[in-house]
Amino acid sequence: MSRRKVLITGGAGFIGSHVVRLFVNKYTEYDIYNLDKLTYAGNLENILDVENATNYHFIKADIVDANEVNNLFEKYQFDAVVHLAAESHVDRSISNPMEFVMTNIVGTVNLLNAAKTCWKNDTKDKLFYHVSTDEVYGSLHDGGFFLETTSYDPQSPYSASKAASDHFVRAYHNTYKIPVVLSNCSNNYGPNQFPEKLIPLFINNIRNNKPLPVYGKGENVRDWLYVVDHARAIDEVFHKGKIGDTYNIGGFNEWTNLDLIKVVCKAMDKKLGREVGESEKLITYVTDRAGHDLRYAIDANKIMKELGWEPSLQFEEGIEKTIDWYMENQKWMDEVTNGDYQKYYDKMYLKR
Ligand code: NAD
Ligand code: TYD
Repeated sequence: MSRRKVLITGGAGFIGSHVVRLFVNKYTEYDIYNLDKLTYAGNLENILDVENATNYHFIKADIVDANEVNNLFEKYQFDAVVHLAAESHVDRSISNPMEFVMTNIVGTVNLLNAAKTCWKNDTKDKLFYHVSTDEVYGSLHDGGFFLETTSYDPQSPYSASKAASDHFVRAYHNTYKIPVVLSNCSNNYGPNQFPEKLIPLFINNIRNNKPLPVYGKGENVRDWLYVVDHARAIDEVFHKGKIGDTYNIGGFNEWTNLDLIKVVCKAMDKKLGREVGESEKLITYVTDRAGHDLRYAIDANKIMKELGWEPSLQFEEGIEKTIDWYMENQKWMDEVTNGDYQKYYDKMYLKR
């Protein structure tokens, strides 16, 4: 029997790199193809440790380019897709929504079309897995949790683009019988996250004694999950998820931004040998994000009950590990903040 060819998109990004690592190491009987455009958020140094694995292949490509995507499906005949490539930062979506329309909506539909053509004669053992966000459900103001059945109510250009892509994935399942599965996850944290997102940005700013810009009053609530636990959940959904179904993934771990920032500040005081309370002095309240969603909270009971997944780490342990990683990988952080990481592709791939 031929080897299963699994295409992972966005595998040089934050979550994608953890998914690539898990799949390459755990499923040596699969061929893993990591397709990534290497935007500012893609960094091949995130997956250096698997680069030479015989079942790993990197493809630099843009999912917005339909021809390129079709040619790749024709050439490699992928059996399954785990689709993570996206523009992922809400603030960027506010200043440049069109990039989000192109990558998140058009890019997803390009992949669906290519899969539809490639799998037209036989969808047996094929799978299109779309990785999405809890932000598609909107903002919780009156308590409660997001369920898989909660109506979509996206509030930012980012979440609207992800919601549209989710709708297309379900529409292709309904109309063209493409075997799909979806998951919607809460906020991730952990190693390799681009330092525009709250936790790595604040760790880096504390290290460099720079202000910590808290939007509004810091009262917004997010549900945080360690990225490796998300990758483990993606593994479960990919292998055991019911075709056509959606699984919410979350850590039952809600924090207001301000409380979370204080935890990070305390841990950083300890790591840096600063007096307790020193890092908190860097907190600076700034103008709120436009349309800032108040609260996200996931009910993850379905994936826990049906697929047996549960988070492996408590938040206290996860945040310790995360801070340790950023402190031990200051070169990674420095190269990401000064742009050097973008030279890696040229150095490693263009000279071959
Ligand atoms: P990220 O921004 O760190 O990485 C995105 C990756 O996609 C990068 O490697 C980038 O180069 C690649 N990419 C972007 N545009 C591309 C294009 N046109 N063609 C090919 N590759 C392209 O994102 P992330 O935080 O790892 O998120 C991954 C996925 O998970 C996204 O779909 C996101 O919506 C979803 N998600 C993220 C979170 C979170 O907390 N970060 C939570 C739930 C769901
Ligand atoms: P972020 O990491 O951008 O994730 P998301 O917007 O997808 O939830 O932000 C997490 C929370 O932190 C969100 O409520 C916005 C807030 N935030 C700040 O207060 N200051 C910042 O500098 C950033 C990046 C985010």
